[in-house]
Amino acid sequence: MDKQPKHCSFCGIEASASVPMIAGTEGFICEACVMLASQVVSSWGKKKELNEIQGPLPKPAEIKAMLDQYVIGQDLAKEILSVAVYNHYKRLKHESDKTGGLGSADQSVEIGKSNILLIGPSGTGKTLLASTLAKIVGVPFTVADATTLTQAGYVGDDVENILVRLLDVADGNLSKAEWGIVYIDEVDKIARSPEQAFGTRDVSGEGVQQALLRLVEGSHVKISAKGRRKEHGGGDTMMIDTRNILFVAGGAFPGLEKHVEKRLMPPKTAIGFHAEMNNPDDKPTLEAMLNATQPDDLKRFGLIPEFIGRFPVLAPLEPLDVDALIQVLTEPKNALVKQYQQLFAFDDVELEFTQDALVEIAEKAIERNTGARGLRSIMEHVLRRTMFDVPSKGNVERCIVNADVIKGEAEIQVVEREVGDDLQRSSGG
Ligand SMILES: Nc1ncnc2c1ncn2[C@@H]1O[C@H](COP(=O)(O)OP(=O)(O)OP(=O)(O)O)[C@@H](O)[C@H]1O
Ligand SMILES: [Mg+2]
Repeated sequence: MDKQPKHCSFCGIEASASVPMIAGTEGFICEACVMLASQVVSSWGKKKELNEIQGPLPKPAEIKAMLDQYVIGQDLAKEILSVAVYNHYKRLKHESDKTGGLGSADQSVEIGKSNILLIGPSGTGKTLLASTLAKIVGVPFTVADATTLTQAGYVGDDVENILVRLLDVADGNLSKAEWGIVYIDEVDKIARSPEQAFGTRDVSGEGVQQALLRLVEGSHVKISAKGRRKEHGGGDTMMIDTRNILFVAGGAFPGLEKHVEKRLMPPKTAIGFHAEMNNPDDKPTLEAMLNATQPDDLKRFGLIPEFIGRFPVLAPLEPLDVDALIQVLTEPKNALVKQYQQLFAFDDVELEFTQDALVEIAEKAIERNTGARGLRSIMEHVLRRTMFDVPSKGNVERCIVNADVIKGEAEIQVVEREVGDDLQRSSGG
């Protein structure tokens, strides 16, 4: 009678003093696989729970209306995002109906997921859109910066860390994390560099794209959950199912428009000293270019086709013009002007910007070419002196900022409280 060593029928590990086996009629199962199986089964149950507490899905128009409160303009991107999120959750519902064996969903239809790629100049609201969306849909949300991911070979850990963070945001609740949204920022920075396009291995760009594929395409990814609560019984590692996670990627893709332009309007004579230049006036705007972007242009920019293919929805963001920037300054819930007015109000001072001051600030920001990002530093610069002086003066009622102040040709007009007013205050207090 030969004594064959026992192996786990699931993972193949050999039985030993430290690896006990449970015997079944056909084979064996080890402790780790039992844990894993229980984790998977409990996540099915939780999926059902989540479905029940979820309530009615917000319609795309409702999602967009909520985005409007925080993000100025970008209607196209907002519409695309709203629809994608709506579809994403419909898909999740469909999936969990299937795994839970509930409902009457047609089980033969596999609904593919629609990850989104936001493309638009710096400071136009890509990160803002993604984080606002997360607030609205009330699911775990994490931002990963593609530039911090390490090169091929060391990538595995880092890319998985995105999921570890998502799990943290979900308070360790695996099934909640599996409903989450991951925003991968700065994906243009992991484009394959042109010098390395042929031959040599591109470890910083393409390698990272390859590593991200594994997450994005939807699979069970093993993550190391050291220090996490062990409520899933999983010890140090656990499996997270990324099939249902919505991935949104964003990047400024500087220079992408050149690739679009080349495709749309090839130069009349490509080579030679007498090459005829295209009339610069015929040149489409940056906005038109971004709207015309196709996967092929992204490929020429240096994204690998497999990566692009997993982001089927392209959402272009438009550069912000003067009007839009003024709106950014004044309209959103936490608009910059409102923020500074609040700061001054703590000292009992009113802060006022004239309309032409706002125009001037917006124009200055456009010169800087950093979108709405430039607004804050302009404001800081303009208000610095006044923010230093006013608190120690004590008798200031109002500060008025006009266009000349922004141009650096005048000082902020400081209106002091009338003495009588002041006396009244001190006697009254
Ligand atoms: N459309 C917008 N509406 C309101 N605020 C905006 C908008 N675009 C940008 N902002 C403001 O500018 C700041 C920077 O925007 P955001 O981080 O979204 O830029 P981005 O598009 O991600 O740029 P980058 O490509 O440089 O990362 C935000 O904090 C926000 O206050
Ligand atoms: Mg950003």
